[in-house]
Amino acid sequence: MESPHLSVLKNEVLEIFAPLSEGYFIDCTLGFGGHSEAILKAHPKLSLIGIDQDPHALEFSQKRLAPFKDRFSFREGRFSEVLPTLKELPIVGILADIGVSSLQLDDSSRGFSFHSERLDMRMNPNAQLSALEVVNSYPQDRLERIFKEYGEIKESKKLASLISEERKKGRITSAEALSRLIERHFKRVGNIHPATLAFQAIRIEVNDELGEIERALQTIGEIAKGRASIISFHSLEDRLVKNFFKEWSSSCLCPPEAFRCTCGNNHEKGQILTKKPLVATPEESKANPRSRSAKMRAFEFKS
Ligand SMILES: C[S@@+](CC[C@H](N)C(=O)[O-])C[C@H]1O[C@@H](n2cnc3c(N)ncnc32)[C@H](O)[C@@H]1O
Repeated sequence: MESPHLSVLKNEVLEIFAPLSEGYFIDCTLGFGGHSEAILKAHPKLSLIGIDQDPHALEFSQKRLAPFKDRFSFREGRFSEVLPTLKELPIVGILADIGVSSLQLDDSSRGFSFHSERLDMRMNPNAQLSALEVVNSYPQDRLERIFKEYGEIKESKKLASLISEERKKGRITSAEALSRLIERHFKRVGNIHPATLAFQAIRIEVNDELGEIERALQTIGEIAKGRASIISFHSLEDRLVKNFFKEWSSSCLCPPEAFRCTCGNNHEKGQILTKKPLVATPEESKANPRSRSAKMRAFEFKS
């Protein structure tokens, strides 16, 4: 089946999970099933459970992965909520390819893109919070914080004030109106549209993307089985992953200022497999520009 989404770092994912044989593989972000299909093909004895909160993605992947029959099943929901329910399974691999899929970005009815007539950005179309609420109801200082933290936008104050003034004239109801407004007041940096970081920040807020990763990493640390790999597209996400992996690989959990170790010095859960994050090759970056910001880290738990 032709997929509307090109899976990033597919070869690197296959390499990290190459030693797996039998057991369960959890794909936390099934999306259009590209990574899952590659894993199922490469490991005929693995069973795979795919999680996604987007029913459109699940519908597509169910068809794509039907040839694998009962080796594939799926769960609809947020991965932070589904993962804890799978703890008892003999898990050998966990993958999360965090972020939005090309279809979510390109389908203008989902309200993620600059020219969309809607302002939505929900990965789960039934979730309560949408970009419409964030943009029109959040107090100015909260908007400023989101732009600063999630978008790392230098002029976050100016941007929040601009939106706050504009919505006094009437609700901002489309992504197009928002991107046009930003375009009128902010310069393009190189090829990058001036609204890119603002849209990214709003999307992260709408989908609680950082909270999701943090809760999922906590559960993965409790499951502590097999290999886990996370692909992220944002420096804050990558930092979270890096810090969790560092903690899991540390034997001593005493605070750095402790005079001597009192924790037993035996807390190491396993080893980091990627000293530095893996990134796309120049060929992949050229073929799939979305892969340029992808960073992949992997960890192996002790058996
Ligand atoms: C980048 S795409 C995954 C693409 C997939 N790896 C492939 O090869 O086709 C990310 C997918 O994860 C889903 N997603 C993101 N955050 C999620 C979360 N917290 N819980 C469940 N699904 C999530 C999105 O709906 C989207 O379909």
